[in-house]
Amino acid sequence: MDVCSNSAKHPVLLKESKTENKDKSQVKFQENELIPKLQENDVYSQAKEECPDSRKDFNDTGSSSLPSIQKFLPINYNSYTKEHYSYAGKNIIIQESIENYGAVVWPGAVALCQYLEQHSEELKLQGAAVIEIGAGPGLVSIVASLLGAHVTATDLPDVLGNLQYNIFENTHHCKVHQPEVRELVWGEDLELNFPKSSHYYDFILATDVVYHHYFLDKLLTTMIHLCQPGTVLLWANKFRFSTDYEFLEKFKEIFNTTLLAEFPESTVKLFKATLKWD
Ligand SMILES: C[S@@+](CC[C@H](N)C(=O)[O-])C[C@H]1O[C@@H](n2cnc3c(N)ncnc32)[C@H](O)[C@@H]1O
Repeated sequence: MDVCSNSAKHPVLLKESKTENKDKSQVKFQENELIPKLQENDVYSQAKEECPDSRKDFNDTGSSSLPSIQKFLPINYNSYTKEHYSYAGKNIIIQESIENYGAVVWPGAVALCQYLEQHSEELKLQGAAVIEIGAGPGLVSIVASLLGAHVTATDLPDVLGNLQYNIFENTHHCKVHQPEVRELVWGEDLELNFPKSSHYYDFILATDVVYHHYFLDKLLTTMIHLCQPGTVLLWANKFRFSTDYEFLEKFKEIFNTTLLAEFPESTVKLFKATLKWD
């Protein structure tokens, strides 16, 4: 098991300093031997002190913003595993899957979590409105939430079940604003689903959303749509391909871009960006 924690190597900073389910037809993670129970001594040991109903069931809550989550079941239990992280003074357990790209934690997420943890006061994350795009299994959204932000975690429909599961399991027992989980397909129905007039974000978070896929223009359109005056985009990405650098060049034409940190061990770069308004 890969254990990642905030004791990982520091980046090169460049600028700026489930109890048993009542309804067994629903979530079945704990019924199958291949999906180990969350360990009592990890997330829940802290939870017991912080919240009396820390073992409230995944489906036994009004906090889920997605009715379809109630039906989430892994397609293949063999493809699930759990990874442990430690940020914001909490143990975080992320259920991962090999069923799609969005179900594993990518290196950009680890880099951004490390940065958020180390700079949360300077960033004024407490009470900030945050949206994550391409949230995957949710580590960044969970950490932002534990650091005090009001978080909306978004991704493709297929990814939302596991995303909601991880977010719920790692935050429902904490005194935090419960993150919202929403579908956001890059470039699709942006003004309809996230109208600018009612959806202002202090931060947009994006990690490893740039890799070899056909939606890079739509990704850029989405970033632009979500940015309003004052919005800060924090984007961490592992750079591998020439297409990654081509995206970066386009990105820099549209955003005032600062390289905040580089993580040599993972070739991740972390950028801070604001939209050019002229
Ligand atoms: C490489 S994964 C990164 C996941 C997570 N941010 C991390 O760093 O661990 C890319 C994410 O982008 C999402 N994604 C890919 N294409 C998308 C699209 N067209 N619209 C919305 N999300 C998309 C995937 O579902 C996936 O969660």
